[in-house]
Amino acid sequence: MCGIVGYVGKRAAAPILVDRLDDLSYRGYDSAGIAVANDGVVVVEKLPGKIENLRKALTGNEPPGTIGVGHTRWATHGAPTQVNAHPHADCAGKLFVVQNGIIENFPALKRELLARGHEFRSQTDTEVVIHLLEEYYDGDLMDAAKKTAARLEGSFALVFLAADERRLVAVRYHAPLIVGVGGGENFVASDITAVLQDTNKVYVLENGDVVSVEAHRVDVDTFLPQRAKAPTERRLTIVDWRAEDVSKNDYPHYMLKEIYEQPRAVERTLQGRIKDGEIVLREMDLSPERIRRVDSFHIVACGTAYHAALFGKYLLERVLRVPVSADIASEFRYRAPILGPKSLVILISQSGETADTIASMEEAQSRGAKTLAVVNVRGSTLAREADAVVYTRAGPEIAVASTKAFTAQLTALMLLACYVADQRKVELPYGREELLRHLLELPAHLERTLEVAAPTAKAWGEIIAGERDCYFLGRNVDEPLAREAALKLKEISYVHAEAYAAGELKHGTIALITEGTPVVSFMTQKDVWDKMISNIHEVRARGARTFAVVCEGGYGLEDLVEDVLTLPAVPELFTPVLAAIPAQLIAYEAAAALGRDVDQPRNLAKSVTVE
Ligand code: M6R
Repeated sequence: MCGIVGYVGKRAAAPILVDRLDDLSYRGYDSAGIAVANDGVVVVEKLPGKIENLRKALTGNEPPGTIGVGHTRWATHGAPTQVNAHPHADCAGKLFVVQNGIIENFPALKRELLARGHEFRSQTDTEVVIHLLEEYYDGDLMDAAKKTAARLEGSFALVFLAADERRLVAVRYHAPLIVGVGGGENFVASDITAVLQDTNKVYVLENGDVVSVEAHRVDVDTFLPQRAKAPTERRLTIVDWRAEDVSKNDYPHYMLKEIYEQPRAVERTLQGRIKDGEIVLREMDLSPERIRRVDSFHIVACGTAYHAALFGKYLLERVLRVPVSADIASEFRYRAPILGPKSLVILISQSGETADTIASMEEAQSRGAKTLAVVNVRGSTLAREADAVVYTRAGPEIAVASTKAFTAQLTALMLLACYVADQRKVELPYGREELLRHLLELPAHLERTLEVAAPTAKAWGEIIAGERDCYFLGRNVDEPLAREAALKLKEISYVHAEAYAAGELKHGTIALITEGTPVVSFMTQKDVWDKMISNIHEVRARGARTFAVVCEGGYGLEDLVEDVLTLPAVPELFTPVLAAIPAQLIAYEAAAALGRDVDQPRNLAKSVTVE
């Protein structure tokens, strides 16, 4: 989705804005631009395509000025052209805006503004915002921004720049925005990673906030009448991510770096949370009494996080012996879910800003259910607005393809399952001590898995890269993992992939298996081992090239599959954490072999903040 940056301070704004846009480029974009103000004159440079185009256009030509805004656009209304790129200006060329989100009532506003003589240049919804601001502006940007925001419907984050003012004004409404606080300089950005090079102190803005950002001060107000009397002080959040966490180091892609960070990410998820045989989840603000009373568990998420949710369903049902549902957030929010005060809805999200997941949380809360967010980004909307939170602590995830956030989510769900079991006095499977010991050993097993998986995944990835289709099979907890493998492969390599519960294949999809079609089977579950063997026989009989991911001790595959990848032995409920590594590496290697833009796959955005 779109990325926003703003700078006000003592340094030249243009290079800072372009560099920070680069830091946000992982969100996905198709054009980029900046506006820099100096002595009442604002220079705008914006171009379709990569940020590099913008950088080149500015080389030797940088506009002077120490205040400005920048934007990466992911087109929604209007094609990705220069004229549609942000910033957008008013008729007089004195006021400028960058926006993230969607202005739903823009057609009506546009008609009104056209009738009042405003001239529109773009096909975007955003342009109404700046003409509306022009209507209200009489030298006070803050006041005009409040009046403008009050007329808008939809979800939006806005940053305004006026030629004649030494401040930026930012507005947040259902689209993320933060203010980074530096020494004698301040920043505005749509996410924390854009300011980490300069500061780790941020204000996370709330819905309805209108904020004046000067070099030495930040003032918060609101455009929502119902919040007019609410306190305007915001707590300064100190972020524990480091600037190095968002650099690629020596890796060719962020995705590969993040795959290799998984032992450390999982270690951080576990850190301090198993103490003297007890599970400690400090941020989990739900009383033991409340947890004991829960009579239905629901897990809701999108994309990769939804695959973690499916794993969570298997896990919680197995551990707690209670019914658990797992839903895609965009479906859950519209299917009138049956919830009440004894329901617990668990929302899983890396970013904590996915629009459908947030809407699902609101839907659950409006039906009286308690909500628990399993989230990576501190201070994100889900983290702040759910009734309780468990942080996954994976560190910043930059690549569009989610990897370390996924394994951290699986690990957090395992901790959560144990925690809830303890509160409900349910005995843990495998024996308590044994189970907790295995959990703590996961980082070491992940290290080992990376070693064994790398060469095999490269060979398989290269084979798959030459094919049109690929199928992934699994049963039990291997089924969501198969789905995750297929999603990873599709999103970064563009090879068509499907995942199937292995027993379901013969109900239709097996018709698509032809001579040479690669089929990768995840088979880490002993009680369905023989069933998986039968399913592999079925696809082989139709000409498939077969590959298998197993755990130590897997047997009888010699004449059945072309190659086997063996993972370290762990309790069966934990195997998806390890099997995720080959799933991710196969996709990575296929995409690399095809020369794809691994970190920024076409059409995709890192965080989907619109419906
Ligand atoms: O930030 P979230 O975890 O809520 O994002 C959910 C999905 O958009 C995300 O997992 C997406 O599917 C990834 N690109 C998958 O790699």
